[in-house]
Amino acid sequence: MSKCIGLMSGTSLDGIDAALVEIEKNGEQIRFIGGITVPFPDVVKNELIKLAYRNTVDKEVLVRMDCLLGHLFSDAVEALLKTSGAEKQDILLIASHGQTIGHYPAQKKQLGHSTAFSFQIGDGDVIAARTGIPVVSDFRRRDMAAGGTGAPLIPLLDSLLFQNGSRNVCCLNIGGIANITVLTAGNGRIVAFDTGPGNCLSDLAVSRLVDGRMCFDKGGEMAFRGKVHDDILERVLDDPYFLKLPPKSTGREYFNEDFLDFILGLGRDISFEDMLATVSCVTPASIAAALRNFVPEDEFPEELIVSGGGVRNRFFMEKLEDFLPEMVVVSSEKYGVDPDFKEAMGFALMGFRTFSGLPSSIPSVTGADSEQILGKVSLTGNGSRFFNRTT
Ligand SMILES: Nc1ncnc2c1ncn2[C@@H]1O[C@H](COP(=O)(O)OP(=O)(O)O)[C@@H](O)[C@H]1O
Ligand SMILES: [Mg+2]
Repeated sequence: MSKCIGLMSGTSLDGIDAALVEIEKNGEQIRFIGGITVPFPDVVKNELIKLAYRNTVDKEVLVRMDCLLGHLFSDAVEALLKTSGAEKQDILLIASHGQTIGHYPAQKKQLGHSTAFSFQIGDGDVIAARTGIPVVSDFRRRDMAAGGTGAPLIPLLDSLLFQNGSRNVCCLNIGGIANITVLTAGNGRIVAFDTGPGNCLSDLAVSRLVDGRMCFDKGGEMAFRGKVHDDILERVLDDPYFLKLPPKSTGREYFNEDFLDFILGLGRDISFEDMLATVSCVTPASIAAALRNFVPEDEFPEELIVSGGGVRNRFFMEKLEDFLPEMVVVSSEKYGVDPDFKEAMGFALMGFRTFSGLPSSIPSVTGADSEQILGKVSLTGNGSRFFNRTT
């Protein structure tokens, strides 16, 4: 058994999730030991919003933020070691996803070359230097270099944890963006893609409509107070992203303030409560539409296993039950997987596989031409821990 740490900070910019896991020798079993979420200080969050969601950035701010986040990720590792009582020398590696500043999955040609790219910051070298633990970072680029969309990568963990020979299940993560992994029992097929917005539209609407005093709709309580306008919802669901065939991935480059403005523009004369309910409903409605549009009936899942911060939004969960009455909707907690740490666990697993020379991407999911060993490695000391393992 090897102890590994996974670090994740998603598009919601709520903070850093750090998970300590134990992984069995061949990577075929993973156990969650403990996790913490360290919120970003407001100044960092505000700077990250500018870097990630504005079209022009200050070059020096960006480069220094790469370094600063390396330190904040290291602080999160140290806090996790403290709370879990684990010893630094027992940790094989840290796998860090980083903070996404830009995700451009379209294989746009420039001078005849495909230029799909994803850019995460929080320098792995800084984390390795600070913690003295080897780091794997930058997981998405290798898949994109092989023609893939670089996302989703979590289906690897989903299939390890939830693939079940006797029934079809679907794993859903509601972070800033929502993604699903459909695991088919009979043929072992994995279909996974970003369905569209997770919490991001509701978060943006809350901070806009409540004048910046709140940043999310706790428990979905505000959405429950309004009425969903189905005519608006239907027009939003006609957006080309929802209709596009998978594989596909998206980000807050697309589901952003402009997208929110488009929805608000469809219902200028409706109440604040109704608008929030309608905006919030885009998330469960687009998830349900994705399942109906892109999963064959005979592979339709029986259970929806939900993770990510959106699990705590009761409005999302109830609407999912309404839209998908044939499915049982549960939190991943039911299977002993803390919904706040599934993604951090996933990256820990991928980092472990990289150290073991194993690929982690699934070409049928990302559209890449072949499976890839993901990430860049930052070694520590003389690197002997790494080279001894692989020679
Ligand atoms: N108690 C809660 N009620 C409703 N929504 C919540 C609650 N706690 C967290 N969230 C939502 O979850 C989001 C964070 O989810 P997370 O899975 O960390 O996303 P990401 O991976 O994008 O960081 C928050 O922005 C918020 O919208
Ligand atoms: Mg988060």
